[in-house]
Amino acid sequence: MTKPLVAGNWKMHGNANTAAELATHLSLHDSAFVGVEVIIFPPAVHLDRVITAAASSMVSVGAQNMSQWASGAYTGEVSGEMLNDIGCDYVLVGHSERRALFAESNQVVAEKFKAAQQQGLTPILCVGESLQQRQQGQTVKVVTEQIAAVTDLVGTKSLCKGVIAYEPVWAIGTGEVASPEQAQAVHAEIRSQLGSQGANTRIIYGGSVNATNAGALFAQPDIDGGLVGGASLEANEFLKIAQLMVQG
Ligand code: PGA
Repeated sequence: MTKPLVAGNWKMHGNANTAAELATHLSLHDSAFVGVEVIIFPPAVHLDRVITAAASSMVSVGAQNMSQWASGAYTGEVSGEMLNDIGCDYVLVGHSERRALFAESNQVVAEKFKAAQQQGLTPILCVGESLQQRQQGQTVKVVTEQIAAVTDLVGTKSLCKGVIAYEPVWAIGTGEVASPEQAQAVHAEIRSQLGSQGANTRIIYGGSVNATNAGALFAQPDIDGGLVGGASLEANEFLKIAQLMVQG
């Protein structure tokens, strides 16, 4: 199996100093997560500083979003090439907050996934259903459509070179975590849809992951790590979560 991963999505929090401090703290403790890949996703304006702080460590850095276009007159946008140029390795595409608050469609998310790979980044494709969709029994349908938009554009082989983050919308930032069984069921479904090409694809879980619930989630056979929001802003909590993945 490929290396499991634990990713910290800092969202729109912190300032230049707290970003550098958090990155430095994690970098100094990177011996704690031998066997697990750790990636942090600071706000775009702090990327350069965080990349410098993490430079000599095992911590990788990614962006929370990127443009689907390579370059041009797109005021306010940042391209994958620009991110690659400053030393980013990863990028989140299709986070539910981008889908819901910035109207990113499955098609736009797929275009971002493709552009990320073309521009030398590894995309982490975020998928997941809302509470209403789950209650209506549409979880698999929603996730399948979100993934199909990407495979239609780039093919299953390319999708499998990225990472998939299953993040039920109802569990993000709510403190309400999916049970290990609920998460495992969706992960197993996603993996079966990828077929043999997806055997080594990392499928990580996100949504209110913390040091208390991470162990049981990471113990599931198809959960290869976590995408952590709120708890990733606390250095020691995030380190504990990463260590649980090592043990799992
Ligand atoms: P949360 O966020 O851990 O705060 O629920 C997860 C995410 O949005 O990636």
